Amino acid sequence: MCGIVGYVGRQSALDVALDGLHRLEYRGYDSAGVAILDTAGALVIERRAGKLVNLDRALAELGPIPGTTGMGHTRWATHGGPTDQNAHPHTDCLGMIAVVHNGIIENFTALRDELERQGHMFRSDTDTEVAAHLLEQMLRGRLAENGADLAAAFTEAFRRTCRCLDGSFTLLAVHRDLPDLMLGARRNSPLVVGLGEGENFLASDVAAFIAHTRDAVEIGQDEVVELRADRVTVTDLDGSVTAPRHYHVDWDAAAAQKGGHPYFMLKEILEQPLAVADTLRGRLTADGAISLDEERLSPQDFRYVDKVFIVACGTAYHAGLIAKYAIEHWTRMPCEVDIASEFRYRDPVLDRATLVVAISQSGETLDTLMAVKHAQEQKARVLAICNTNGSTIPRESDAVLYTRAGPEVGVAATKTFLTQCVATYLVALHLARVRGTLFGDEIGRVVEDLGGMPAQIEKVLDTVEPVRALARELADSKSVLFLGRHVGYPTALEGALKLKELAYMHAEGFPAGELKHGPIALVEDGTPVVVCVPSPLGRNTLHGKVISNIQEVRARGARTIVIAEEGDDAVLPFAEHVIRVPRVPSLLFPLVATVPLQVFACELALARGLDVDQPRNLAKSVTVE
Ligand code: AGP
Repeated sequence: MCGIVGYVGRQSALDVALDGLHRLEYRGYDSAGVAILDTAGALVIERRAGKLVNLDRALAELGPIPGTTGMGHTRWATHGGPTDQNAHPHTDCLGMIAVVHNGIIENFTALRDELERQGHMFRSDTDTEVAAHLLEQMLRGRLAENGADLAAAFTEAFRRTCRCLDGSFTLLAVHRDLPDLMLGARRNSPLVVGLGEGENFLASDVAAFIAHTRDAVEIGQDEVVELRADRVTVTDLDGSVTAPRHYHVDWDAAAAQKGGHPYFMLKEILEQPLAVADTLRGRLTADGAISLDEERLSPQDFRYVDKVFIVACGTAYHAGLIAKYAIEHWTRMPCEVDIASEFRYRDPVLDRATLVVAISQSGETLDTLMAVKHAQEQKARVLAICNTNGSTIPRESDAVLYTRAGPEVGVAATKTFLTQCVATYLVALHLARVRGTLFGDEIGRVVEDLGGMPAQIEKVLDTVEPVRALARELADSKSVLFLGRHVGYPTALEGALKLKELAYMHAEGFPAGELKHGPIALVEDGTPVVVCVPSPLGRNTLHGKVISNIQEVRARGARTIVIAEEGDDAVLPFAEHVIRVPRVPSLLFPLVATVPLQVFACELALARGLDVDQPRNLAKSVTVE
């Protein structure tokens, strides 16, 4: 997720772009950059790795850049580390075209290979840079065909470039010799137009221009915007003019950064379908292999692996517990899951044939980093699953798979948890493929199931209103128990952690079968007990056993809140509240069942008047042991 702002008008484009970037900084802060068409006819580009303040400082030293057309970008790195060279904007070979991009260009490797064959010189590791060179190539062709009308040729070349891109993009482009024109396009990534008086804006979201105008235009999928100071034209990729929806933004600037939601926590819960889709995007190669991001391990290294350890903390640890089921089921290899802060003190048995998977959204959790270092001292290989490109844990690891959840501002993990689960499924499939325990078509089927999960998560989000009402009703509870079996157990643990973190309420997750071995003593009249019920279509008898567990707690006065798949009516006689989720393959159940638990914890905390974005005593990244 990156922040993009574009401007054509009568003010200083640099001032508008920088102001917009500051309002979008929460969308990414690995690097930042601007491209300004200055009044001397030059295309001026400045970009710096790190936080936006680094760019501010560089520009302050440079002095003013006069010009009324320009664009800016704050980066959340997906392809290529957070360096100056990888910072946007990116240019063509001649420095006459500049682009900024948010999203993932899935076919960038093939495009880059072809463009390099045609003589294009690349300077970065990013997927984005292919768009600049492809646009240069397309423009060269158009100018050869239809002569001097540069604006028309540039616009058509831009449309043709977008048609060649697979994946997701918000793309903006300018040409040095077209100082009054900016082009934009989107697919599976946000882009909105701001309409001003003698000036117009493009942005990832309205937060970037809300200080200038509240009149906006929604850009549809695969639509192209031609932005000028006095007019905006929107077409499809074939050049046919469309009639996009105009609307008035009534959010204030602060709410705009949260997408109109009162809290980042709510925004990030709602972003989960997109976060999962982005994490999956482009991961399955044509021959059924899973493409990791950074792979300093050969297929032979992976084939040599005979045992897996997962190390993580908190929510990431719960993702690891879920991964264990998938890894052991698909690879038939033993998989242990350790709390990172305990790992190295128990003297685990590690050797060169061990793969340690370190899960960390921040990539800076010191407990997990120290576990990684211990694993490497014991000659184990390390694969990192991380949400922060270029952070310490991926840098120290032998292979990396990045989740693409975008920045998660809320301290309590939500979208990064779902994307961690998805990433661990992909790692399990990768291991199964190199070990030959799953064939390409089997992997393809699982990836297809995973591909359907964003829509399933969306369905859950559309039906969670009753969960909010229930949370408000239970706001004065002293404690809540969470039960589950199989992958429902780590799901229950995550639900309990969310309630602890957000509502400061005692909550505990148990394997449902463990209840009778002690914890059932906690159940008294009115105790809320949340139960994650596996599918009745599962191969084993787990469903029936969980129904029995529900009866056990109900017999002792519990208020039973049951998460069950659509159509499972066996739960009805014993559930005081039923929260329905779509039927999904059993291993993928956490992807739909966790969402109501996140909403429940968040709403209950709000009912208690608590700060759901920055809960007390917590930090987003725990860099102490
Ligand atoms: C989860 O809601 C918490 N914020 C916390 O448990 C977190 O998951 C844990 O600190 C690990 O953080 P990491 O993923 O950045 O390593």
